Amino acid sequence: MRILLIGSGAREHALARALAADPATTALVVAPGNPGTAAVATNLDLDVLDGAAVAAAAQGMAADLVVVGPEAPLVAGVVDAVRAAGIPCFGPTGAAARLEGSKAFAKDVMAAAGVPTAMAHVCTDLDQVAAALDAFGPPYVVKDDGLAAGKGVVVTPERDAALGHARACLARDGGDPTTGGAPAVVVEEFLDGPEVSLFCLCDGTDVVPLAPAQDYKRLADGDAGPNTGGMGAYSPLPWAPPGLVEDVLDRVARPVVREMAARGTPFTGVLYCGLALTSRGVRVVEFNVRFGDPETQVVLARLASPLAQLLRAAATGGLGAAPEPRWHDAAAVTVVLAARGYPGQVGTGDPVTGVGAAEEVPGVHVLQAGTRDDGGRLVSAGGRVLSVVGIGADLAAARAAAYAGAARIDLPGAQLRTDIAAGR
Ligand code: AMP
Ligand code: GLY
Repeated sequence: MRILLIGSGAREHALARALAADPATTALVVAPGNPGTAAVATNLDLDVLDGAAVAAAAQGMAADLVVVGPEAPLVAGVVDAVRAAGIPCFGPTGAAARLEGSKAFAKDVMAAAGVPTAMAHVCTDLDQVAAALDAFGPPYVVKDDGLAAGKGVVVTPERDAALGHARACLARDGGDPTTGGAPAVVVEEFLDGPEVSLFCLCDGTDVVPLAPAQDYKRLADGDAGPNTGGMGAYSPLPWAPPGLVEDVLDRVARPVVREMAARGTPFTGVLYCGLALTSRGVRVVEFNVRFGDPETQVVLARLASPLAQLLRAAATGGLGAAPEPRWHDAAAVTVVLAARGYPGQVGTGDPVTGVGAAEEVPGVHVLQAGTRDDGGRLVSAGGRVLSVVGIGADLAAARAAAYAGAARIDLPGAQLRTDIAAGR
């Protein structure tokens, strides 16, 4: 199988590693990739938001499968362009990617499909926001309607901070058709309880769940600081209630896939169910339409089945006939090293050393994200720079490995949480 993978984060480095390990894979190109993916695949410089360019690159390498990692090309309709060129593509069409691209659209689909989620008001002006904040009371939850790289959500006890975030979001240009094209924010009920990320592979009809994982969204230890794209993750979740995955399939993933098909926009790719396990049961916090980052780093570390064959089955309507994914009897923990300034204005160009030394720790591999090869020297080039993954017999061993690996890496001003998978 000849595969073109789109993206350049640690998620794509994890995907590239797993795709390269599938015996069915005969060629693997990553566009644009990063210095880490260059070690397991061929990198290709490409404007990944340009569907025609991606389709041409796929045709140029005679690809049997294109896998799109990040949300931006998905929302931009890159999958549509690749499929129009007759090449199987793992990921949702632009129309189906609205499940992530617009929180108002996602709420509309969930309401139609009877999926449990936080009560919410979609607001297009500040008076509506103020009324919604007062209806729910603190803590306040205000979400930018559109894509915001995990940073569009503010959860705060301060009414002024909630209003300020809404004001900034509403000052944007344009929005989703759900709100008549107006910029919008979603104000919603606060959900308490632990969060779980469950990735469901979908082929338009059938749904195959992967192993659940937990992500750490806040920047600092103890869930302090601002929301980020994700600072660490672990899998499995020994504390998860029995039957959780079946419950989510029955009440969330299958109804959404049915609803999307009924709307004439069938969903293929990963339906990422971001869930809160509240005292009143499972609630959807958000949908994403792609693999999560950093959860993918730990989920794929545990996957024993060949990934390329699984993704091709999803891309070609074949999940119903595909063998169920198998899992290693092991735990995985990942710790993200972020650049100084993240998630705000980040510093780049700092030397990154010790990656090789980290990988000498048993059970450790290092996935690259915001890195660049500067004449043979690895330097930082983005917010989340590396994901250090530790694999062990249990979470304690995996966590010890991940932190031992991270300790061998030097990045000036690096930020990392010290409590990923602590006490699990
Ligand atoms: P989202 O981008 O919707 O996933 O939100 C990012 C993060 O904000 C989530 O992972 C939660 O930690 C938090 N969050 C979002 N919605 C809520 C909510 N209704 N109640 C509590 N926390 C929330
Ligand atoms: N880890 C959260 C996300 O991928 O959106």
